Amino acid sequence: MYSLEQLVASAVQDFTVAQDDAAALENAKAKYLGKTGQITELMKGLGKLDPEARKAQGALINAAKQQIEAALTARREALADAQMQARLNAEAIDVSLPGRGRAGGGLHPVMRTWERVEAIFRSIGFEVADGPEIENDWTNFTALNSPENHPARSMQDTFYIDGNDSEGKPLLLRTHTSPMQVRYARSHTPPIKVIAPGRTYRVDSDATHSPMFHQVEGLWIAENISFADLKGVYLNFVKAFFETDDLQVRFRPSYFPFTEPSAEIDIAFGSGPLKGRWLEISGSGQVHPSVVRNFGLDPEKYIGFAFGSGLERLTMLRYGVNDLRLFYEGDLRFLKQFN
Ligand code: FA5
Ligand code: MG
Repeated sequence: MYSLEQLVASAVQDFTVAQDDAAALENAKAKYLGKTGQITELMKGLGKLDPEARKAQGALINAAKQQIEAALTARREALADAQMQARLNAEAIDVSLPGRGRAGGGLHPVMRTWERVEAIFRSIGFEVADGPEIENDWTNFTALNSPENHPARSMQDTFYIDGNDSEGKPLLLRTHTSPMQVRYARSHTPPIKVIAPGRTYRVDSDATHSPMFHQVEGLWIAENISFADLKGVYLNFVKAFFETDDLQVRFRPSYFPFTEPSAEIDIAFGSGPLKGRWLEISGSGQVHPSVVRNFGLDPEKYIGFAFGSGLERLTMLRYGVNDLRLFYEGDLRFLKQFN
């Protein structure tokens, strides 16, 4: 029969050869410590010994058993460590690689202009209103003094929508924010002092025209608001918006069916990438008496001005962008420059 030392040595040997497979180690364990294992058998044999010998032999067997258990635990841990190490190697992370990072979102430059315009007009007491992009042709054209078949309608060629609204009026994508003058004035009482920024649509496409673009409408109607107030308010806005005095603003006589007199507002900078180039940013004028009547107001009593400015144009001028289509190509190299 083996000596106890040999038994321990043989167990350690068996545990050592048991490779990363857990079953092999459990089998080796059973061989020594299981129900019919060698240590268990030795324990059973103790009963036949006399008390003195049983005590001495029992202590020796116990010591051997503890050594075997310790060897088993050590091997288990070694195997677990090896497994972990193998996993770590397999899933190795190269800490020297550049991080992926989380891309930070940012506001579109035209949205920045939108927010800026709202802040400036709020600061001088204008309300901010919002209205539908799918508009009926009465509000977009007729109420604004462009009767059906009037040639002025072709100034703003648009996208018509199949079907009519609940009152049977044909629907279209609004060509300007001016219908908001009508919507707002018909649901509020003077003095009316409001801006209405939003999306607008036309059959247009070139470096300064996009089929979808943004305007901000302004309307101030009270008992004594004049063209001089328009000039004052708009010049104040332009200075606040561009934060410079190094620019020229001109009111160029023009025609709109819904204002009389009418003017287009152009801007030219004294320096920068767009130096010296006049760019139209807005239409404007004194609201036509027929339109005031369509507001549901008496044109003998109420008078005022309106303007409709292009948010893309304001953005182009502020940042020196010379092609408006860049705003809608979704090229991050361009868009990132504004954040
Ligand atoms: C109008 O749309 C009038 N409703 C403006 C107005 C309002 C006049 C109130 C009087 C009283 P106009 O078509 O000029 O006018 O457009 C106004 C501004 O919108 C232009 O000066 C320009 O800045 C911008 N704009 C017009 N069409 C486009 C387009 N296709 N792409 C980008 N911006 C445009
Ligand atoms: Mg114009």
